[in-house]
Amino acid sequence: MSFHPPMAYDATFQRSKRTLAEPGEPFTYTAENRAKLDEIVARYPAEQRRSAVLPALYLVQYQQGYITGHAMEYVAGLLGITPADVEDVVSYYTMFYTKPVGKFVLSVCRTLSCAINGAERVVHELCHQLHVKPGETDATGTFTVLEVECLGACDKAPVIMVNDAWHEKQSPDTVKQLLDDLRAKGESSLTDCHMAAKVKG
Ligand code: FES
Repeated sequence: MSFHPPMAYDATFQRSKRTLAEPGEPFTYTAENRAKLDEIVARYPAEQRRSAVLPALYLVQYQQGYITGHAMEYVAGLLGITPADVEDVVSYYTMFYTKPVGKFVLSVCRTLSCAINGAERVVHELCHQLHVKPGETDATGTFTVLEVECLGACDKAPVIMVNDAWHEKQSPDTVKQLLDDLRAKGESSLTDCHMAAKVKG
């Protein structure tokens, strides 16, 4: 005699149909980026092409600024995985964007070390200076402010990642200067301390 309730044997299980990010325009890598991906894929065993999904997505983002549904399908085809596999990665990591963002994305860490060292005041000041809320892009299309989890530089809190570059020990006073520098000097004012720079080559 079983104490388990009877199971519904006619139940069917299927993967839910998901809608990828906005499809956008058809996407292919430039010849240069395709060559970079081929070089990266060659580092892995042939049956492990999927291991290149992170650099493949970085290359998409460097090329067109954000990652569309068509780009996910394109990457999936190149790596022999499904578009849903690619979307899982895109939606998990905050450094991948599915909508247009500003020229400079200011990702402020809000995890413990940064939180207790004033990250909230840093976000407040950035938003005040740019007239935005977290998650928004300013009216000029130059700056997007995001709140993210630990950026791995907890001993230098609070940390802002500007595109791929960490800017450490920030405060409400320093972020105004940071914005001024970015406006005046552009990318040359970024620090160069992130591994992603190696993907760009
Ligand atoms: S808690 Fe902010 S970088 Fe780790």
